[in-house]
Amino acid sequence: MKIKVDLSHASKDASYDILIDSNIPIGEFLKPLGIKKRVCIVTCTTVNNLYGSSISNVLKSAGIEPFFIVLPDGESAKSIKYLSYVYDELIKNRFERSDYIIAFGGGVIGDLAGYASASYLRGVNFVQIPTTLLSDVDSSVGGKTGIDHPAGKNLIGAFYQPKIVIIDVDFLNSLDNRELINGFAEVIKYGAVLDEDLFLYLENNLAKIISKDKQSLMHIIERSCLLKADIVNKDEREGGIRSVLNFGHSLGHAIETLYSYKTIKHGEAISIGMVFASKLSKELNLCSLETVNRLETLIKNSGLPTEIPKFSPEEYVNAMKLDKKVEDESIKFVLINNIGNFKFKKLDFTFIRKFLENLI
Ligand SMILES: NC(=O)c1ccc[n+]([C@@H]2O[C@H](COP(=O)([O-])OP(=O)(O)OC[C@H]3O[C@@H](n4cnc5c(N)ncnc54)[C@H](O)[C@@H]3O)[C@@H](O)[C@H]2O)c1
Ligand SMILES: [Zn+2]
Repeated sequence: MKIKVDLSHASKDASYDILIDSNIPIGEFLKPLGIKKRVCIVTCTTVNNLYGSSISNVLKSAGIEPFFIVLPDGESAKSIKYLSYVYDELIKNRFERSDYIIAFGGGVIGDLAGYASASYLRGVNFVQIPTTLLSDVDSSVGGKTGIDHPAGKNLIGAFYQPKIVIIDVDFLNSLDNRELINGFAEVIKYGAVLDEDLFLYLENNLAKIISKDKQSLMHIIERSCLLKADIVNKDEREGGIRSVLNFGHSLGHAIETLYSYKTIKHGEAISIGMVFASKLSKELNLCSLETVNRLETLIKNSGLPTEIPKFSPEEYVNAMKLDKKVEDESIKFVLINNIGNFKFKKLDFTFIRKFLENLI
């Protein structure tokens, strides 16, 4: 399947395709982009060990010469230290503006390689080949790139669009269950606030998805990319509707902050955040108890957490105040208006603190 991310209203050459399939002949899709000779593959240790030599052979047989920059696994690679290392390698290899950088890995690699592409020589060509479910359904679509700073996540970055995104579900075969459901949390999010049919599909096909049935994975990746691409087409820079993608993220980010981005994964934190947001929505008469129960049940059954960790309401509110969506004493919250629909509402922190007191 091919999805078009149409950003032609913003800039003539910013639109791109997302390909979703299994066993994709990657070389065939890279050639027409006009890759002359060289590409730089930025990847992480695990993905390199698993797939480095096979992707190298595929590219070589298409007449493309790859060189590899291999970074450590995990969030620590998304730092100024490794960004600087990527620049060093590009300069050492006399990488030119017409050459291509391929991000081959999860969201960490996509974000870092994307930002390196946006900034090196004021912008070089960039391709995303995501290898985790989270990067398939979320980080590879939408053009947000960047690195972390010791003071906070994603503080340095740029909007920069790839030339193509190639999503091959076969890479998910080697992904462990915790990483799979980490990405699945974002799929639940899309269904919960944007697409009731997708939500129903997740409820009815959960066992198949968790056991990595290829057709089911392709279906949920396609739906997720379509939904995200549609939102990004409407609001690339998150001035309005793109904030719907933050459903579950206000409390989710606070949980991640309180755990110093260790122990808990992003998908786990937003799962707790989604259940919290649905309970808030019920309190504000925006959704039924049945909606809360359906969401909580799907999250639980997929192996994701729902219980709010035992920090104090005060700590949660203080952490939430770091959010970009905060104005004075209130925050723009994404609420659920029954499955498949959402509503934005400004909520003041006194109300949120009181509500948290009843749940913790
Ligand atoms: N740009 C965006 O819009 C956006 C959106 C969401 C998240 N993100 C970012 O994405 C990052 C998280 O991404 P992630 O969850 O993919 O984490 P990740 O890139 O760290 O990958 C998770 C782990 O899986 C391993 N791995 C990757 N592919 C594998 C495979 N096919 N088989 C086996 N192991 C594999 C990696 O080595 C790593 O240890 C965060 O930094 C987050 O900020 C960005
Ligand atoms: Zn998220």
